[in-house]
Amino acid sequence: MDTMNNKVALVTGAASGIGRATAVLFAEKNANVAISDVDEEGLRKTADLVKEQEGEVLSITADISKADEVENMINKTVDHLGRLDYACNNAGIEGPMTTTVEYTEEDWDRVLNINLKGQWLCMKYEIPAMPENGGSIVNISSILGKVGFAGAPAYTAAKHGLIGLTKTAALEYSEQGIRINAVCPGFIETPMLDRAGITTDKETKKQTESLHPIGRLGESEEVAEAIVWIASDKASFISGDSLMVDGGYIAR
Ligand SMILES: NC(=O)c1ccc[n+]([C@@H]2O[C@H](COP(=O)([O-])OP(=O)(O)OC[C@H]3O[C@@H](n4cnc5c(N)ncnc54)[C@H](O)[C@@H]3O)[C@@H](O)[C@H]2O)c1
Repeated sequence: MDTMNNKVALVTGAASGIGRATAVLFAEKNANVAISDVDEEGLRKTADLVKEQEGEVLSITADISKADEVENMINKTVDHLGRLDYACNNAGIEGPMTTTVEYTEEDWDRVLNINLKGQWLCMKYEIPAMPENGGSIVNISSILGKVGFAGAPAYTAAKHGLIGLTKTAALEYSEQGIRINAVCPGFIETPMLDRAGITTDKETKKQTESLHPIGRLGESEEVAEAIVWIASDKASFISGDSLMVDGGYIAR
């Protein structure tokens, strides 16, 4: 795993949180890294962190819910870095916290377009760009891809859907040597949880921590370790899986 030398990793949603930590870790393992996001300022910060390692870094602004931007993201990666070995489809949004009845059609479409259609579009263009007998894709789902969560209907539906999509794509492409897995984080301290009001309110944070048997929220770096490992050759017999990185949340 420490020899991702001359390999190329693409990480979407790399301007922040889990995506940023994953891009840095791929670089620490000697991969060249393409980082992508809609947030250009955040991408610049990630690029500075990745540049502290030896490999190359390529920044690409792309909205994963738009097919032409995803196609361009993959073409640029291959044109500039020469190949595509690992992809971490991580970009996502939380959407509003409200019930199934109160949810608007506009919010439903926005969350599904990014969190489910966007991941499909990424795989649609990544798979043909990968070398035969060697590519590996990691889709970032969630504990909410496994269990329900009152107040997040679209997010929960998209993350459940992403696990089904991951299994299906794994069945389609494992034989040609492309492994496709999901990673399902518990609550991780990133800007997403600040926006959802989970880490900004002391009581809510405490309650959320107590949902995890380990007794705390996770760190982006802990999720990145699992992502880079399952992407690597060390996980060579794992495909179609959903790896929990959730401090025991789902064991309840
Ligand atoms: N933080 C958590 O508790 C948690 C738990 C489970 C799963 N996840 C998932 O992990 C992934 C990363 O989340 P995070 O917590 O690091 O959040 P974050 O908000 O810190 O990072 C998400 C990144 O995705 C980018 N993004 C949003 N929409 C995009 C689009 N249309 N195209 C390209 N980029 C876009 C954002 O600009 C941002 O940089 C998400 O898929 C999220 O659903 C997070």
